[in-house]
Amino acid sequence: MAGKRISSPEGLEQLRKGILSKRDPNKLIVSICTMSVCGQSRGSADVCERFKEEIRRAGFEDKVDIRETGCQGFCEREPVVIIFPEGIYYVNVKPDDVPEIISTTLVERELVERLLYTDPTTSKKGAKESDISFYKNQMRIVFGNNRHINPGEIDDYIALGGYSALSRALLQMTPEQVLEEIKKSNLRGRGGGGFPTGIKWETTRNAPGEIKYVIVNADEGDPGAYMDRSLLEGNPHSVLEGLIIGAYAIGSSQGFVYVRQEYPLAVSNLNVALEQAREYGLLGENILGSGFDFDVKVHRGAGAFVSGESSALMTAIEGEVGEPRPKYIRTAVKGIWDRPSNLNNVETWATVPLIINNGADWFRGIGTEGSKGTKIFSLVGKVNNTGLVEVPMGMTLREIIFNIGGGIRDGRKFKAVQTGGPSGGVIPEKFIDLPVDFDELSKVGSMMGSGGMVVMDEDTCMVDTARYFLNFLAGESCGKCVPCREGIKQMLNILTDITEGRGEKKDIELLEEVAAMVKDFSLCALGTSAPNPVLSTLKYFRDEYLAHIEQKRCPAYVCKPLISYYIDPEKCQACMICLRQCPVEAISGSKNQIHVIDQTKCTKCNTCFEVCPPRFSAVRRLSGEPVPPPVEDRVLARGKG
Ligand SMILES: Cc1cc2nc3c(=O)[nH]c(=O)nc-3n(C[C@H](O)[C@H](O)[C@H](O)COP(=O)(O)O)c2cc1C
Repeated sequence: MAGKRISSPEGLEQLRKGILSKRDPNKLIVSICTMSVCGQSRGSADVCERFKEEIRRAGFEDKVDIRETGCQGFCEREPVVIIFPEGIYYVNVKPDDVPEIISTTLVERELVERLLYTDPTTSKKGAKESDISFYKNQMRIVFGNNRHINPGEIDDYIALGGYSALSRALLQMTPEQVLEEIKKSNLRGRGGGGFPTGIKWETTRNAPGEIKYVIVNADEGDPGAYMDRSLLEGNPHSVLEGLIIGAYAIGSSQGFVYVRQEYPLAVSNLNVALEQAREYGLLGENILGSGFDFDVKVHRGAGAFVSGESSALMTAIEGEVGEPRPKYIRTAVKGIWDRPSNLNNVETWATVPLIINNGADWFRGIGTEGSKGTKIFSLVGKVNNTGLVEVPMGMTLREIIFNIGGGIRDGRKFKAVQTGGPSGGVIPEKFIDLPVDFDELSKVGSMMGSGGMVVMDEDTCMVDTARYFLNFLAGESCGKCVPCREGIKQMLNILTDITEGRGEKKDIELLEEVAAMVKDFSLCALGTSAPNPVLSTLKYFRDEYLAHIEQKRCPAYVCKPLISYYIDPEKCQACMICLRQCPVEAISGSKNQIHVIDQTKCTKCNTCFEVCPPRFSAVRRLSGEPVPPPVEDRVLARGKG
């Protein structure tokens, strides 16, 4: 980066042209995700180092550039290497694969077949993103640039047209026009509630007071969600550009990015981005010569889920404990230090430059009547392809789970999908063709939330699922209001009783009663939405609750106190496999003696069930029925002769 201040839109355009002119179009680019936690944790840095070493050794520095990027979405296949201009896509690359990639693909321009993605359902190989079902069905307008950008290089962002929306907003539009464009786009907040962004901006803009704040909510405390982290790690300038545009429209000169404590890489990439933006004069005084001043402070989160709630987050920025407070007056009017404060999610801010550049009508052309644009989901659970997916609003669950996610793992059957984070709802198979948008998800008792999507197969127990989420929420409730603190705990106690065989018929009614109270009387949305996992599973999977309560049976064989493992003496071949693998030596027997599980020692770890050869299938799981007593004569038939 040149390190010089840009003082006009023309200067920005000149800089962009300068960056592009210095880039040799004939050079190959090897893109590796080393700037994101997902890539790093799977060893992408070692792959990258090996590339650097081998390219140096071969003297190819003038023919190949390495681009270290943020998350590219298909995290479970990391380390991923993409070679541009063609976009050749290699998965699960190891450092020792690098010499072959260099000789075969970079030199010979041939494919290394074994490193291509193989579709788990069709077994077809895909050489490029456009051949891979995970990518070809997505619409990556917000997330797609991650693979072209080194977040430590502002020039990469500018080369792709970055900060041109800011330039347009500051120099060609009035704040009112920017606001109108966002209102017209119908952009709704991506952080949970789906509140119309333009209306919130307008509220803060019109609120009395000279000093106003704009804030990025990058707290992202939902288990399993990591889209905000990946966006902030991989493309921090897109978020900053949106924030500066918002600040201009609202009339704010001070912004905050509230980042979760556990996201050190996001903080580090963000700080580099802030420094570089300041050096170019894209932050600070008189941005792009427009007369508009604005700067940003980074605030590390309190490490608590509840601190992502708007009033809690603002209290934390003030230096107090990050707990929600009553919002008699909305934070958009009375937020940080009682000043008007506009809070938006990472993805919401990153969408703003796209709207300014392409226009509200373009944005409204994507999505459904009530939910415009795209949404990034973290698709996890029992699907073949897990990762971050960006799809137009209105894509059906079936398309997301089966076309993009590649269907259910190990040929199992789809049972349900949980959306919206810990306080979302569970959606059963009958709604598989539901178009996913804010309103449709609410209609079936779930919500968009920040975009978590956990796919469940037939081996998932719905009572245990509700208990899992309630356990999370009970731990995260700040305890300030009684309905949330006590109500969630009581629901958790009842669910625990049911999953441990102490459930009573009246429990269902009691759960519904407590859920209604928590929903109606909690102080913040942590409490008001906490009953969702309970109510949705009760609504769609009541028979499972009844089986647990009335028959002490867990139909999915998940709740340990309700299941037992038993070796069928008619089928056991005394092969010793389960006996050897049992981690607690609960299985007795010998090569001539059929095996028996000591129920007092068994920890129900499922190992014996998994390792018993399918041709014998001697290990059975029992639930809701007693374990038959061991047979007297344990000598195996073949051993008797
Ligand atoms: C318990 C709780 C946790 C929340 N955590 C987050 C979060 O991590 N990130 C986020 O953007 N919104 C979170 N929200 C929603 C925020 O309160 C707020 O609605 C959102 O940041 C507004 O941005 P948006 O309009 O762009 O969606 C949370 C809400 C609650 C009740």
